[in-house]
Amino acid sequence: MIKVAILVSGGGSNMLTLCDSMVGDHPARPVLVLSNDPKAKGLVRAAERGIATAAVDHRQFGKDRAAFEAELVKLLDAAQPDIICLAGFMRVLTAGFVERYASRMLNIHPSLLPKYKGLHTHARALEAGDAEAGCSVHIVTPELDDGPILGQAKVTVEAGETAETLAAKVLVQEHRLYPAVLRRFAGGEMGLLELA
Ligand code: GAR
Repeated sequence: MIKVAILVSGGGSNMLTLCDSMVGDHPARPVLVLSNDPKAKGLVRAAERGIATAAVDHRQFGKDRAAFEAELVKLLDAAQPDIICLAGFMRVLTAGFVERYASRMLNIHPSLLPKYKGLHTHARALEAGDAEAGCSVHIVTPELDDGPILGQAKVTVEAGETAETLAAKVLVQEHRLYPAVLRRFAGGEMGLLELA
């Protein structure tokens, strides 16, 4: 069985769709949901599903990212995941952490990468007058939101769209895309998945 750990910072809706997808003949199962915020709602939701959860409060480490990550590593390595999925995990990771899990850490980002790395993706897409927006799943590399893209899903930007309405539409596509990419990745497929 392929073991998957999922890192969240907030509500964890992507994490839930990933967990709910790992059933039946799926080659993977969730072994740990880990957060940088002990109050993240995603932790409660995962625990309700009987999945092991843990938190490392990043605020206790100030600016010392390496010390924060050392605690994450302890918990992750105890769970021995084969794949790590970042799902709304809002901490920037050091190169050392990323390299430890090179080629087996995925992230979902709410833009059509390489456009709009970082924050406020939907507002930036609207400001640019883009006709399309969407989300991407990529392999995590030390450069932020930059690794090889495994999947993308697009939405049409309608007249009168706001950052909020666009975020909601894109999130629906995130919930389709991330489980589909994870399943392929767990099966060793690395080609680009483009969802219509
Ligand atoms: C999602 O839209 C995800 O793409 C985004 O945060 C949201 C988390 O929602 N991630 C990033 O912006 C990463 N830089 P969720 O907690 O309900 O899955």
